[in-house]
Amino acid sequence: MRTPDLTRFMATKENPTVRKAYCPILLQSLRVNTITNFDIYMKRSQRNRNERYVLYRKRNIPFSERNRTTLYEHGAEILYIDVSEKKEYQVYLEKNLDAIIADESVPTEEKSKIAYTCATGLVEDLLQNPRSGEHVKRSKDVITNLVNYLLNESQAFFGLMATTSFDYYTYTHSVNVAVFGIALAHRLGCYSREEINTIGTGLIVHDIGKSLIDQRILNKRGPLNKGEWEVVREHPENGVRLLRTSPHVNEDSLLIVAGHHEKIDGSGYPRGLRGDAVHPYARLAAVVDIFDALTTKRPYKLAEHSFPALQIMRDEMAKELDEELFREFVILLGSSTGA
Ligand SMILES: [Fe+2]
Repeated sequence: MRTPDLTRFMATKENPTVRKAYCPILLQSLRVNTITNFDIYMKRSQRNRNERYVLYRKRNIPFSERNRTTLYEHGAEILYIDVSEKKEYQVYLEKNLDAIIADESVPTEEKSKIAYTCATGLVEDLLQNPRSGEHVKRSKDVITNLVNYLLNESQAFFGLMATTSFDYYTYTHSVNVAVFGIALAHRLGCYSREEINTIGTGLIVHDIGKSLIDQRILNKRGPLNKGEWEVVREHPENGVRLLRTSPHVNEDSLLIVAGHHEKIDGSGYPRGLRGDAVHPYARLAAVVDIFDALTTKRPYKLAEHSFPALQIMRDEMAKELDEELFREFVILLGSSTGA
């Protein structure tokens, strides 16, 4: 089962006029002997049912082994940060993600949650500021860590699957698609680690062109009118335009951005490419993109479970999707769930 969203915000009643909000972080995400650039809080439940957040540690003080042990002994595996310091925490996470992923003492479940939180935080930044070359570079670094995790640890895909969000946001969708796509590319056995990095980078930025679309169109409940649909159909090409100037995304990653809505029967967009004209990376992206779109909740539809989603893809989209890639994806999901 997918786990609750760790980014839920809470508020204190200490000062009703200035309500501070806090968000949970995992103790496992704090590395021993690092200095945090954000304050850390603990939650105290009170008898009058109000929750109170107390400052545990000021920023710029090294986090020691002793701190960690004491927190564990007190069962404080979830700590809190002030929401206004989320960006600082994100920077800290990205800087330490490689060490967290390489740390054999961190359980898969927690590693997956930390990697997923880090990747979604990054995509949020990327989509809010799609022209930032710095954010694009960060995407590449996070993907390198995600690929290392998925390729080096046998339970990583299972752990990340369990962490993915059912609720659809463009940024969680981008991370889900990257996770599914990296795992599928690895399963195929024909791509080098470098190629899988290229595929992963293309997948995590595949919908960057949507950042230019009005939220009212993206979240519209009813069917899109002709004009709105035309705007949506422009997002692959707009994505390529946004990324083309970045030195951090190579041309092969852009094949995914440009082609993830192409279908091999020619019914896709923007170019209506057919058969072999649809690049293998784009075919792979189409399979995982559609699966995640079906299995997440949208303002206008409920989420499908994995098995019915795969049935819909098999029964209604067989001509659109690459048969072999779809078959391998079914096997991948089956192996991850033990089915
Ligand atoms: Fe898309």
